[in-house]
Amino acid sequence: MKSVAGDENGRSEVSESAPSWALVTGSSNGIGRAAALGLAADGYSVVVTGRSAQRVEEVRGQIEGAGGRAIGLVADLSGPSAARGLAEQVRDAVDGPVDVLVNNAGGGSFAPTEATSDEMFDVAFNLNAKAPFILVGAFAPGMAERGRGAIINVGSLSSTMATAGTAAFQAAKGALSMMTKSWTAEYGPRGVRVNTVDPGFVLTAVNEDFRPAFANYLSTLPAGRGGDPEEVGNAIRFLASPQASYIYGVTLAVDGGRNAVVPF
Ligand SMILES: NC(=O)c1ccc[n+]([C@@H]2O[C@H](COP(=O)([O-])OP(=O)(O)OC[C@H]3O[C@@H](n4cnc5c(N)ncnc54)[C@H](OP(=O)(O)O)[C@@H]3O)[C@@H](O)[C@H]2O)c1
Repeated sequence: MKSVAGDENGRSEVSESAPSWALVTGSSNGIGRAAALGLAADGYSVVVTGRSAQRVEEVRGQIEGAGGRAIGLVADLSGPSAARGLAEQVRDAVDGPVDVLVNNAGGGSFAPTEATSDEMFDVAFNLNAKAPFILVGAFAPGMAERGRGAIINVGSLSSTMATAGTAAFQAAKGALSMMTKSWTAEYGPRGVRVNTVDPGFVLTAVNEDFRPAFANYLSTLPAGRGGDPEEVGNAIRFLASPQASYIYGVTLAVDGGRNAVVPF
Protein backbone atom coordinates (compact mmCIF):
# COMPACT_ATOMS: atom_id res chain seq x y z
CA MET A 1 0.00 0.00 0.00
CA LYS A 2 1.38 3.39 -0.93
CA SER A 3 1.58 5.98 1.80
CA VAL A 4 2.72 9.55 2.16
CA ALA A 5 5.60 10.49 4.43
CA GLY A 6 7.20 13.84 5.17
CA ASP A 7 10.73 14.94 5.95
CA GLU A 8 11.86 17.33 8.68
CA ASN A 9 11.09 20.33 6.44
CA GLY A 10 7.46 19.37 6.08
CA ARG A 11 7.99 18.12 2.55
CA SER A 12 6.21 14.88 1.77
CA GLU A 13 6.71 12.02 -0.60
CA VAL A 14 4.81 8.87 -1.36
CA SER A 15 6.52 5.78 0.07
CA GLU A 16 5.69 2.13 0.64
CA SER A 17 5.75 2.28 4.48
CA ALA A 18 2.90 2.56 7.04
CA PRO A 19 -0.37 3.94 5.73
CA SER A 20 -0.74 7.67 6.00
CA TRP A 21 -4.31 8.74 6.74
CA ALA A 22 -6.38 11.70 5.63
CA LEU A 23 -9.48 12.54 7.67
CA VAL A 24 -12.00 14.47 5.58
CA THR A 25 -15.11 15.62 7.44
CA GLY A 26 -18.27 15.82 5.37
CA SER A 27 -16.81 13.59 2.67
CA SER A 28 -20.01 11.68 1.97
CA ASN A 29 -20.99 14.34 -0.57
CA GLY A 30 -19.99 17.44 -2.53
CA ILE A 31 -16.64 19.12 -2.03
CA GLY A 32 -15.57 16.74 0.74
CA ARG A 33 -16.28 13.72 -1.43
CA ALA A 34 -14.22 15.20 -4.28
CA ALA A 35 -11.35 15.90 -1.85
CA ALA A 36 -11.56 12.38 -0.39
CA LEU A 37 -11.46 10.73 -3.81
CA GLY A 38 -8.54 12.93 -4.84
CA LEU A 39 -6.55 12.29 -1.67
CA ALA A 40 -7.15 8.56 -2.05
CA ALA A 41 -5.82 8.77 -5.61
CA ASP A 42 -2.75 10.54 -4.18
CA GLY A 43 -2.02 7.52 -1.97
CA TYR A 44 -3.66 8.42 1.33
CA SER A 45 -5.87 6.03 3.23
CA VAL A 46 -9.00 8.07 3.83
CA VAL A 47 -11.48 8.39 6.68
CA VAL A 48 -14.81 9.21 5.04
CA THR A 49 -17.36 10.88 7.31
CA GLY A 50 -20.86 12.30 7.08
CA ARG A 51 -24.31 12.04 8.60
CA SER A 52 -25.77 9.62 6.10
CA ALA A 53 -24.51 6.06 6.60
CA GLN A 54 -25.57 5.21 3.07
CA ARG A 55 -23.64 8.06 1.46
CA VAL A 56 -20.59 7.40 3.65
CA GLU A 57 -20.62 3.77 2.54
CA GLU A 58 -21.01 4.75 -1.12
CA VAL A 59 -17.91 6.97 -1.05
CA ARG A 60 -15.94 4.42 0.97
CA GLY A 61 -16.88 1.81 -1.65
CA GLN A 62 -15.94 4.17 -4.49
CA ILE A 63 -12.46 4.65 -3.04
CA GLU A 64 -11.95 0.94 -2.45
CA GLY A 65 -13.34 0.18 -5.92
CA ALA A 66 -10.66 2.43 -7.42
CA GLY A 67 -7.94 0.50 -5.58
CA GLY A 68 -7.65 2.85 -2.61
CA ARG A 69 -8.15 2.31 1.08
CA ALA A 70 -10.87 3.88 3.22
CA ILE A 71 -12.99 3.53 6.29
CA GLY A 72 -16.36 5.18 6.84
CA LEU A 73 -17.54 6.79 10.07
CA VAL A 74 -20.96 8.34 10.64
CA ALA A 75 -20.95 11.49 12.75
CA ASP A 76 -23.18 14.53 13.10
CA LEU A 77 -20.90 17.41 14.09
CA SER A 78 -23.58 19.96 14.95
CA GLY A 79 -23.57 19.14 18.69
CA PRO A 80 -21.42 21.14 21.11
CA SER A 81 -18.71 18.48 21.48
CA ALA A 82 -19.70 15.96 18.81
CA ALA A 83 -16.28 16.11 17.18
CA ARG A 84 -14.67 14.59 20.29
CA GLY A 85 -16.57 11.36 19.61
CA LEU A 86 -15.41 11.38 16.00
CA ALA A 87 -11.79 11.93 17.04
CA GLU A 88 -12.02 8.91 19.36
CA GLN A 89 -13.56 6.77 16.63
CA VAL A 90 -10.84 7.79 14.18
CA ARG A 91 -8.05 6.99 16.64
CA ASP A 92 -9.56 3.54 17.22
CA ALA A 93 -10.04 2.83 13.52
CA VAL A 94 -6.83 3.90 11.77
CA ASP A 95 -3.63 1.89 11.54
CA GLY A 96 -1.25 4.75 10.88
CA PRO A 97 -0.77 8.46 11.46
CA VAL A 98 -3.40 11.03 10.48
CA ASP A 99 -1.20 13.30 8.36
CA VAL A 100 -3.97 15.27 6.67
CA LEU A 101 -7.08 16.77 8.23
CA VAL A 102 -9.68 18.45 6.02
CA ASN A 103 -12.26 20.36 8.05
CA ASN A 104 -14.89 20.44 5.35
CA ALA A 105 -18.25 19.63 7.00
CA GLY A 106 -20.11 22.89 7.30
CA GLY A 107 -23.21 24.84 6.56
CA GLY A 108 -26.13 26.11 8.55
CA SER A 109 -29.61 27.49 8.26
CA PHE A 110 -29.89 31.10 7.13
CA ALA A 111 -32.26 33.67 8.60
CA PRO A 112 -32.39 37.34 9.49
CA THR A 113 -30.61 38.04 12.76
CA GLU A 114 -33.82 38.64 14.70
CA ALA A 115 -35.15 35.28 13.49
CA THR A 116 -31.98 33.33 14.28
CA SER A 117 -32.59 31.22 17.38
CA ASP A 118 -29.90 30.50 19.94
CA GLU A 119 -29.89 26.94 18.66
CA MET A 120 -29.33 28.00 15.04
CA PHE A 121 -26.46 30.23 16.14
CA ASP A 122 -24.91 27.44 18.23
CA VAL A 123 -25.19 24.90 15.41
CA ALA A 124 -23.48 27.31 13.01
CA PHE A 125 -20.56 27.72 15.40
CA ASN A 126 -20.45 24.08 16.50
CA LEU A 127 -20.29 22.78 12.94
CA ASN A 128 -18.18 25.42 11.19
CA ALA A 129 -15.82 26.49 13.96
CA LYS A 130 -15.90 24.30 17.09
CA ALA A 131 -15.72 20.92 15.34
CA PRO A 132 -12.58 22.01 13.44
CA PHE A 133 -11.18 23.40 16.72
CA ILE A 134 -11.71 20.07 18.47
CA LEU A 135 -10.30 18.03 15.58
CA VAL A 136 -7.22 20.20 15.28
CA GLY A 137 -6.72 19.80 19.03
CA ALA A 138 -7.02 16.05 18.58
CA PHE A 139 -4.73 15.56 15.56
CA ALA A 140 -2.37 18.54 15.16
CA PRO A 141 -0.23 17.64 18.22
CA GLY A 142 0.53 14.22 16.69
CA MET A 143 1.41 15.86 13.39
CA ALA A 144 3.65 18.33 15.21
CA GLU A 145 5.36 15.51 17.07
CA ARG A 146 6.07 13.73 13.78
CA GLY A 147 7.15 17.05 12.22
CA ARG A 148 4.72 16.82 9.32
CA GLY A 149 1.08 17.34 8.49
CA ALA A 150 -1.38 19.40 6.51
CA ILE A 151 -4.67 20.84 7.70
CA ILE A 152 -7.07 22.36 5.21
CA ASN A 153 -10.08 24.27 6.47
CA VAL A 154 -12.97 24.77 4.08
CA GLY A 155 -14.24 28.28 4.63
CA SER A 156 -16.39 30.35 2.33
CA LEU A 157 -16.28 33.43 0.16
CA SER A 158 -18.90 34.68 2.59
CA SER A 159 -16.39 34.81 5.44
CA THR A 160 -14.96 37.93 3.81
CA MET A 161 -17.92 39.30 1.80
CA ALA A 162 -21.30 39.61 3.46
CA THR A 163 -24.79 38.83 2.30
CA ALA A 164 -27.93 39.65 4.29
CA GLY A 165 -29.49 36.99 6.50
CA THR A 166 -26.43 34.81 7.03
CA ALA A 167 -24.62 36.52 9.92
CA ALA A 168 -24.19 33.48 12.18
CA PHE A 169 -22.85 31.26 9.38
CA GLN A 170 -20.57 33.99 8.04
CA ALA A 171 -19.21 34.78 11.50
CA ALA A 172 -18.48 31.10 12.12
CA LYS A 173 -16.59 30.84 8.82
CA GLY A 174 -14.78 34.07 9.73
CA ALA A 175 -13.71 32.46 13.00
CA LEU A 176 -12.43 29.44 11.12
CA SER A 177 -10.45 31.69 8.80
CA MET A 178 -8.76 33.38 11.78
CA MET A 179 -8.04 30.02 13.41
CA THR A 180 -6.10 29.05 10.27
CA LYS A 181 -3.70 31.86 11.16
CA SER A 182 -3.69 30.99 14.88
CA TRP A 183 -2.86 27.36 14.10
CA THR A 184 -0.18 28.42 11.64
CA ALA A 185 1.48 30.29 14.51
CA GLU A 186 0.94 27.39 16.90
CA TYR A 187 1.83 24.34 14.78
CA GLY A 188 3.60 25.77 11.72
CA PRO A 189 7.03 25.89 13.39
CA ARG A 190 6.69 22.15 14.04
CA GLY A 191 6.01 21.18 10.41
CA VAL A 192 2.23 21.44 10.24
CA ARG A 193 0.88 23.56 7.40
CA VAL A 194 -2.60 24.98 7.97
CA ASN A 195 -4.47 26.68 5.15
CA THR A 196 -8.01 27.64 4.15
CA VAL A 197 -9.87 27.12 0.90
CA ASP A 198 -12.73 29.57 0.32
CA PRO A 199 -15.26 28.27 -2.20
CA GLY A 200 -17.61 30.65 -3.98
CA PHE A 201 -20.73 29.15 -5.53
CA VAL A 202 -20.14 25.44 -6.08
CA LEU A 203 -22.66 23.15 -7.71
CA THR A 204 -23.34 20.78 -4.82
CA ALA A 205 -26.47 19.49 -3.08
CA VAL A 206 -26.72 22.53 -0.78
CA ASN A 207 -27.15 24.79 -3.80
CA GLU A 208 -29.51 22.58 -5.78
CA ASP A 209 -32.55 24.77 -5.08
CA PHE A 210 -30.71 28.04 -5.73
CA ARG A 211 -29.35 27.32 -9.19
CA PRO A 212 -32.06 29.17 -11.16
CA ALA A 213 -31.94 32.16 -8.80
CA PHE A 214 -28.15 32.31 -9.06
CA ALA A 215 -27.90 32.03 -12.85
CA ASN A 216 -27.64 35.78 -13.31
CA TYR A 217 -25.13 36.15 -10.47
CA LEU A 218 -22.95 33.39 -11.90
CA SER A 219 -22.86 35.10 -15.29
CA THR A 220 -21.18 38.11 -13.61
CA LEU A 221 -18.22 36.02 -12.41
CA PRO A 222 -14.98 36.21 -14.40
CA ALA A 223 -15.35 32.43 -14.80
CA GLY A 224 -18.94 32.93 -15.95
CA ARG A 225 -20.21 29.83 -14.13
CA GLY A 226 -20.48 28.03 -10.84
CA GLY A 227 -17.69 25.75 -9.70
CA ASP A 228 -17.60 21.97 -9.74
CA PRO A 229 -16.86 20.17 -6.45
CA GLU A 230 -13.73 18.68 -8.05
CA GLU A 231 -12.36 22.18 -8.67
CA VAL A 232 -12.40 22.84 -4.92
CA GLY A 233 -11.30 19.27 -4.17
CA ASN A 234 -8.26 19.82 -6.39
CA ALA A 235 -7.30 22.93 -4.41
CA ILE A 236 -7.56 20.93 -1.18
CA ARG A 237 -5.48 18.17 -2.72
CA PHE A 238 -2.85 20.67 -3.78
CA LEU A 239 -2.62 22.24 -0.32
CA ALA A 240 -2.18 18.76 1.18
CA SER A 241 0.55 17.87 -1.29
CA PRO A 242 4.34 18.31 -1.32
CA GLN A 243 3.85 20.92 -4.08
CA ALA A 244 2.47 23.22 -1.37
CA SER A 245 5.39 22.66 1.02
CA TYR A 246 6.07 26.39 1.51
CA ILE A 247 2.44 27.50 1.79
CA TYR A 248 1.42 28.30 5.35
CA GLY A 249 -1.61 30.18 6.67
CA VAL A 250 -3.15 31.33 3.40
CA THR A 251 -6.74 31.58 2.27
CA LEU A 252 -7.04 30.30 -1.28
CA ALA A 253 -10.18 31.61 -2.98
CA VAL A 254 -11.74 29.08 -5.35
CA ASP A 255 -14.63 31.20 -6.51
CA GLY A 256 -14.36 31.88 -10.23
CA GLY A 257 -12.91 35.32 -9.50
CA ARG A 258 -15.63 36.77 -7.27
CA ASN A 259 -13.13 37.85 -4.59
CA ALA A 260 -11.31 40.04 -7.09
CA VAL A 261 -13.91 41.64 -9.31
CA VAL A 262 -16.92 43.83 -8.55
CA PRO A 263 -20.02 42.57 -10.41
CA PHE A 264 -20.79 45.35 -12.90
N1 LIG B 1 -21.24 24.61 -2.22
C1 LIG B 1 -20.92 25.89 -2.08
O1 LIG B 1 -21.27 26.75 -2.90
C2 LIG B 1 -20.10 26.34 -0.90
C3 LIG B 1 -19.75 27.69 -0.84
C4 LIG B 1 -19.00 28.13 0.22
C5 LIG B 1 -18.57 27.26 1.20
N2 LIG B 1 -18.94 25.94 1.10
C6 LIG B 1 -18.49 25.05 2.18
O2 LIG B 1 -17.99 23.85 1.64
C7 LIG B 1 -18.18 22.79 2.56
C8 LIG B 1 -18.82 21.61 1.87
O3 LIG B 1 -20.06 22.03 1.33
P1 LIG B 1 -20.74 21.28 0.11
O4 LIG B 1 -21.28 22.33 -0.78
O5 LIG B 1 -19.84 20.26 -0.46
O6 LIG B 1 -21.99 20.62 0.83
P2 LIG B 1 -22.73 19.20 0.58
O7 LIG B 1 -22.60 18.77 -0.82
O8 LIG B 1 -24.08 19.36 1.16
O9 LIG B 1 -21.89 18.23 1.50
C9 LIG B 1 -21.80 18.50 2.86
C10 LIG B 1 -21.05 17.39 3.54
O10 LIG B 1 -20.94 17.71 4.92
C11 LIG B 1 -21.68 16.76 5.67
N3 LIG B 1 -22.40 17.43 6.74
C12 LIG B 1 -23.33 18.39 6.65
N4 LIG B 1 -23.79 18.72 7.85
C13 LIG B 1 -23.12 17.95 8.74
C14 LIG B 1 -23.16 17.80 10.14
N5 LIG B 1 -24.02 18.50 10.90
N6 LIG B 1 -22.34 16.91 10.72
C15 LIG B 1 -21.49 16.16 9.98
N7 LIG B 1 -21.42 16.24 8.66
C16 LIG B 1 -22.23 17.12 8.04
C17 LIG B 1 -22.63 16.10 4.69
O11 LIG B 1 -22.97 14.81 5.17
P3 LIG B 1 -24.31 14.04 4.69
O12 LIG B 1 -24.48 14.32 3.24
O13 LIG B 1 -23.99 12.61 4.99
O14 LIG B 1 -25.41 14.61 5.50
C18 LIG B 1 -21.79 16.08 3.44
O15 LIG B 1 -20.87 15.04 3.46
C19 LIG B 1 -19.00 23.38 3.72
O16 LIG B 1 -18.16 23.73 4.78
C20 LIG B 1 -19.62 24.61 3.10
O17 LIG B 1 -19.92 25.61 4.06
C21 LIG B 1 -19.69 25.46 0.09
